[in-house]
Amino acid sequence: MKTKKTIITYGTYDMLHVGHMRLLERAKALGDYLIVGVTDENYDRSRGKLNVVESTKKRVKSIEALDFVDKVIVETHKNQKAEDMVEYDVDIFAIGDDWVGAFDYLNEYTHVEYLARTEGISSTKLRKENFDTIQLGIVGLGRDTQAFIDEAAFVSNVKINRIYSPDFLAVKKYTKKSNVIKYGHDNYDDFLDTGIVAVYIDTELEAHYNLIKKAILAGKHVLCENPLALHKNELKELLSLAKEEKVLLLSALKTAFLPAFNQLLAELEDGIIGEVKEVRATRTSLFKEQDYPDSFMEQGATNILSSYPSLLVNKILGKSKDITFFDQGSEGYDVSNLIVSKHKGGAVGVSRVATGIKSEGTAVISGTKGYIHIPAPWWLTKKFYVRFEDKHKSQTFNYEFDGDGLRYMIAEFASLIQRGKRKSKMLTPSDMVGINRVLLEYNERKINENKKQKQKEKEA
Ligand code: CTP
Repeated sequence: MKTKKTIITYGTYDMLHVGHMRLLERAKALGDYLIVGVTDENYDRSRGKLNVVESTKKRVKSIEALDFVDKVIVETHKNQKAEDMVEYDVDIFAIGDDWVGAFDYLNEYTHVEYLARTEGISSTKLRKENFDTIQLGIVGLGRDTQAFIDEAAFVSNVKINRIYSPDFLAVKKYTKKSNVIKYGHDNYDDFLDTGIVAVYIDTELEAHYNLIKKAILAGKHVLCENPLALHKNELKELLSLAKEEKVLLLSALKTAFLPAFNQLLAELEDGIIGEVKEVRATRTSLFKEQDYPDSFMEQGATNILSSYPSLLVNKILGKSKDITFFDQGSEGYDVSNLIVSKHKGGAVGVSRVATGIKSEGTAVISGTKGYIHIPAPWWLTKKFYVRFEDKHKSQTFNYEFDGDGLRYMIAEFASLIQRGKRKSKMLTPSDMVGINRVLLEYNERKINENKKQKQKEKEA
């Protein structure tokens, strides 16, 4: 016969406070053995809890240190509670009464008990008291500016009310119709001289390098659409400048911050498909149809689009070596490029980008035991399928999210600033260098080819 009564409870326990402790003590008092499930950071982000300050490791450690807690586990997915009830033969599931009704379905597995919450304290309140809101200024009126402003509204610790663009009339028009942006600037120095602590840059690609450099020198943290720079050495220069000035410089590659994308990387790391031997990713967009100016198109498909496939290839396979380009051009710039790179252990990366050809935006990661298929558009990763020779072993991972995925990136950027961190684990400076190597190398080769061509013409 069972003599010990087991209780289980779950929570984020960010910045452990007296409300958490009292709940855990009362939960323990219901029986003999208390198990605490601490939510994993990726799981929290996937359920919309974006501002958690402490890492999973740190939160687990804080709970482990409490002597009335007997076991700590990590909660990583939606249906885990029911699985845990069975695995640990749980007698009571206890949780604060802010959740009344939400877990009644677990009565099927165990007895559910809602305990009174402590008034006047919460992690949300502590985060507000301990960290200033990030005042962020927008630079440019680019492709993603409006979406960025809309999505930032979901990140509680970010405030946006300023925009800069050298186009005076465009700025005036924008501030007039926007109910978020109150102040417009057409002078960059004046804009940087306001109370903003960070900027988001979304302009034509050639302008990025100078705008970033000035912002860093003014002590601002920078989030900028990729590529941050178009020529060799410029990116490394910007990264070391950011380090010197102790500010954060991050590429706005939204995919890198999506919960599903991070889950995918974790599964690959665990060897779900064995050793990865090939990564294929496609991204195409016929911008012309949407009335983009010629100057935008002339930046070429590789500069405009290759960052996303390179992100997938580099995050999974690491550094690219021996890069081969199969480009197709029109009027002096590339409208399509098939980029093949070699990686550690003989693995191959195949990135396909085009602004003049339309193709399906899928990604396939092939390993020695199986493969992963991410349906189009793979860079807005929500769902991915894991397939094996044996059909019955197939798995589907699903992480639906609202909006267009920018809020996860904005939340990470703001949270790093608030915590005094200057690097994101999801997109490190060396990831950024690796991702950009492809397009920088392509640009370098183009410059050399043009030089040779001119030399030939001179000689003829
Ligand atoms: N809890 C409590 N009293 C509080 C705060 C939390 O009893 N003042 C309980 C919750 O009901 C839950 C557990 O502590 O059972 C973990 O809650 P968690 O969501 O991690 O803490 P909050 O402070 O509510 O966090 P947040 O503000 O981020 O929602």
